[in-house]
Amino acid sequence: LVSSNELLYRPNFHFSPDTGWMNDPNGMFFYNGYYHLYFQHYPDGTKWGPMHWGHAVSSDLFNWKEQPIALYPDDLGYIFSGSAVVDHENTSGFGVDGKIPIVAIFTSHDPKKEKTGEIDVENQSIAYSLDEGLTWTKYEDNPVLKNPGFRDFRDPKVSWDNERKRWTMVLAAGQEIQFYTSKDLKSWEKLTSFGEGIGNHDGVWECPDFFQLPVIGKSEKKWVLLVSINPGGPNTGSATQYFVGDFDGSDFILDESFKQEMEKEHSFWVDYGRDDYAGVTFSNIENKDGSKLFMGWMSNWLYANEVPTEKWRSAMTIARTLELTKGENTFRLVSNPVPELNEFEVEKLKNSDVPLEGKTLLTTSKAIDFTRARINFKVEDLVDGIYTFELTNSKGDKLRFGYDVTEGNYFVDRNKAGITDFSDRFSDRIAIAPRISTQKDWSGTIVLDKTSIELFFDDGQTVMTEIFFPQAPLDSFYFEAPLDESKLEYIEIHQLKFNLN
Ligand code: FRU
Repeated sequence: LVSSNELLYRPNFHFSPDTGWMNDPNGMFFYNGYYHLYFQHYPDGTKWGPMHWGHAVSSDLFNWKEQPIALYPDDLGYIFSGSAVVDHENTSGFGVDGKIPIVAIFTSHDPKKEKTGEIDVENQSIAYSLDEGLTWTKYEDNPVLKNPGFRDFRDPKVSWDNERKRWTMVLAAGQEIQFYTSKDLKSWEKLTSFGEGIGNHDGVWECPDFFQLPVIGKSEKKWVLLVSINPGGPNTGSATQYFVGDFDGSDFILDESFKQEMEKEHSFWVDYGRDDYAGVTFSNIENKDGSKLFMGWMSNWLYANEVPTEKWRSAMTIARTLELTKGENTFRLVSNPVPELNEFEVEKLKNSDVPLEGKTLLTTSKAIDFTRARINFKVEDLVDGIYTFELTNSKGDKLRFGYDVTEGNYFVDRNKAGITDFSDRFSDRIAIAPRISTQKDWSGTIVLDKTSIELFFDDGQTVMTEIFFPQAPLDSFYFEAPLDESKLEYIEIHQLKFNLN
């Protein structure tokens, strides 16, 4: 029997574990037609606990099939966040009988040392799989990278440096990112540290990622460093900042134009909403356009342990592409839903030149199921005032989001969107994000599941992801513009054909 909590809140197309607690995505890679997602998991409870790596696979990035637990805690401690690489050249020597090893690099977090107050609680360990990521053997000489004296020393993200034929690791040490290199994934040598006096330092630095991206429409390439921080996010709690620069094989050098913009803007965020954390990219996949594949944890440490799901806690964001664009002043990360999402569209309601009379009902659940929808819209000739989309239900829940032209901010207001009393940090503000675009129009993409909204504005330069817990499915969709003469140039509402959970 499916409980009503399950019916109301189990996402239709976002990955969530069948039971138990989940946080960060870990060790994501693509191999032999399958995307692999591992995740911070406590299978025996719905709050954070001794960490395991859960596992799920998918051939389309949306339909995920959970697998047996990949890594269990051991003598060295809990299995914290980390990455996985396909070791094609068998640099690690773990490959036998011509099998290609997949190597996971993760943090061993020792609760015993934590209790006794020793400093080296966190060390880096490895494990390998010879059956495409299903089962894993831990390396007998773990840990492979010992703690040099930081209480927080974790979340190794490893990638292959094809130019120098060696591995690069970034990991978080206190409030800096350290870079290491290795020929065999077993012995690691420090290259450099990055972060002092740069970016947001209101919390501990976690879950870095480091990769190169081509600049859209240019022959130039740049290196991007992602750094999650908790707390310190733009709308409180945990969030992910990014840096753009160059890498000379040993140092990461912040781009001059980016540095100048940081002096004005302070920090650049992968997502301004409160619910996209610890996101990193998949390894072993090369998109033709050089873009990267990204996924984040769709929650926030402010309230993740309290959200009102019963059997499990948390879901991941949808998979997104990451690209880099050069705007007027500097580079910006561009995230958008992966193109695979289009393949799930069945019907489309398209309205052009929608006349608006005050608050206008666009459509209802008679035509579209808003628990699995993708919406594209464009508003022309913006005027001062507030443009608001609103989704409501018969229980009086209201999810509002839009663009405040006067303030120059996008916003998401979930304060009355359903159950909020599980935490006083969940609905203590309206999330906002500065608008980057200077265009006269406003367009965007909205991705809706039962308990999440993902907003992609400014062609993906400004993203907002937020979760909410309505008391019944949202069933009516409204739009309101400041002037009656304003028009929605178009709105396309796509039904997505995911199986209903
Ligand atoms: C980020 C994080 C990581 C750590 C993991 C523990 O959310 O705190 O730094 O490895 O979660 O579950």
